[in-house]
Amino acid sequence: MGVLMRSNGVSKKLNETTRLMVTTFFGVAFGFLIGVSYQPFLLTRLSLQSSIAPTGGSAYIDEKRSGVSTMRNNGTGSTQAPNLNDTPKPPAPELNDTSKIWVPSNPRGAERLPPGIVAAESDLYLRRLWGLPKDDLTSKPKYLVTFTVGCEQKKNIDAAVKKFSENFSILLFHYDGRTSEWDEFEWSKRAIHVSARKQTKWWYAKRFLHPDIVAPYDYIFIWDEDLGLQHFNAEEYIRLVKKYGLEISQPALDPNKWFTWTMTKRRSDHEVHKESGEKKQWCSGTHQPPCAAFVEIMAPVFSRDAWRCVWHMIQNDLVHGWGLDFALGRCVQPAHEKIGVVDAQWIVHQSVPTLGNQGFADNGKAPWQGVKERCRREWKMFQKQFENADKEYFKSLAANHSEYTTH
Ligand SMILES: *[C@@H]1O[C@H](CO)[C@@H](O)[C@H](O)[C@H]1NC(C)=O
Ligand SMILES: *[C@@H]1O[C@H](CO)[C@@H](O)[C@H](O)[C@H]1NC(C)=O
Ligand SMILES: *[C@@H]1O[C@H](CO)[C@@H](O)[C@H](O)[C@H]1NC(C)=O
Ligand SMILES: *[C@@H]1O[C@H](CO)[C@@H](O)[C@H](O)[C@H]1NC(C)=O
Repeated sequence: MGVLMRSNGVSKKLNETTRLMVTTFFGVAFGFLIGVSYQPFLLTRLSLQSSIAPTGGSAYIDEKRSGVSTMRNNGTGSTQAPNLNDTPKPPAPELNDTSKIWVPSNPRGAERLPPGIVAAESDLYLRRLWGLPKDDLTSKPKYLVTFTVGCEQKKNIDAAVKKFSENFSILLFHYDGRTSEWDEFEWSKRAIHVSARKQTKWWYAKRFLHPDIVAPYDYIFIWDEDLGLQHFNAEEYIRLVKKYGLEISQPALDPNKWFTWTMTKRRSDHEVHKESGEKKQWCSGTHQPPCAAFVEIMAPVFSRDAWRCVWHMIQNDLVHGWGLDFALGRCVQPAHEKIGVVDAQWIVHQSVPTLGNQGFADNGKAPWQGVKERCRREWKMFQKQFENADKEYFKSLAANHSEYTTH
């Protein structure tokens, strides 16, 4: 873009005719440059530029017809002189034919659109029905917190949500279909409510937290409903996570309560810890989960980049997310440094068996038994699927390699 800006600066000092010729020359030369050498690189920057200043001139690319890409930059000058009819030669038809637009660097499926109109990402900011769109938002929260809730935990969630300031967007996933009962809370009117009966946290996360939807949020909390937040300060938590460079984290758990893993147990002499001190025989290596690179799935916090990876790892049918915690390290490197537990801001896991009661009584088994069985089964299935995917990848890599070396 530097080239173009310089050409604009120079052209201002020239008379209009010369200016036109100079612009045309730079346009053609630059287009040629794009076509010949730096195509992918420049196309990316071009679409970036366009999305930053969507009202700017039309950057137009057609490589199908001409073979060599050409570009007409900055149509805004055209109000004064660059009336296309004044140019020495009539313009090639593709210079204004919108049916010929093809921009390979656009998101898949949107190649026919000029980059300036492509809105590839979204957010969860609530807008007004009136006034100017640009005045809709008084603030743009940088953090998102979601709770998967049933009405029975209403009091607990009310207390929890109050721990999050206006810097957080609040999103509730309702698994019991009782959304209107939350209206009694003032904050509930500003929250987003998603209702689908008897679904799990990871089912909602996969469907409603696509990375392109939650793109403006620096950190995303995907939390259960049975957490006690009396010792937790959300802003302070964010500060620590940034300080220690944690891409995936969770607040430590009260060591006096029931807990599963040493890794997530609170250590009062630490701000943050990244290693568990777990008995080594539990882990395949010092830096392997659950000795390190490990948080549980009840209260994880993801950075934007980490979530973009983890979202892809969540399987559509494995709704309980068991085993996900052991695989999180695949998304950040080095995992044992970027995954950790925040001791200074900690929570109490109340272990209320909630979703279990949403199960189905079958063969004389209680509903929660069927749910638990499925959790365990999903864990094995997830491990197996991951193993197979790894194997297939390396097989294909080896095949490509031998093909390459034998030719
Ligand atoms: C187009 O050119 C005008 C005048 O030279 C300039 O003010 C404007 O910023 C340019 N727009 C773009 C998108 O380059
Ligand atoms: C492109 O411009 C030419 C000449 O100005 C005009 O005749 C033609 O109708 C335009 N085509 C489109 C698709 O706008
Ligand atoms: C919200 O974020 C702003 C900007 O980072 C900060 O100044 C403010 O203190 C935060 N609000 C609270 C309640 O911490
Ligand atoms: C192997 O080559 C095929 C065809 O070019 C490609 O689709 C595949 O991704 C390659 N596999 C690996 C592991 O690089």
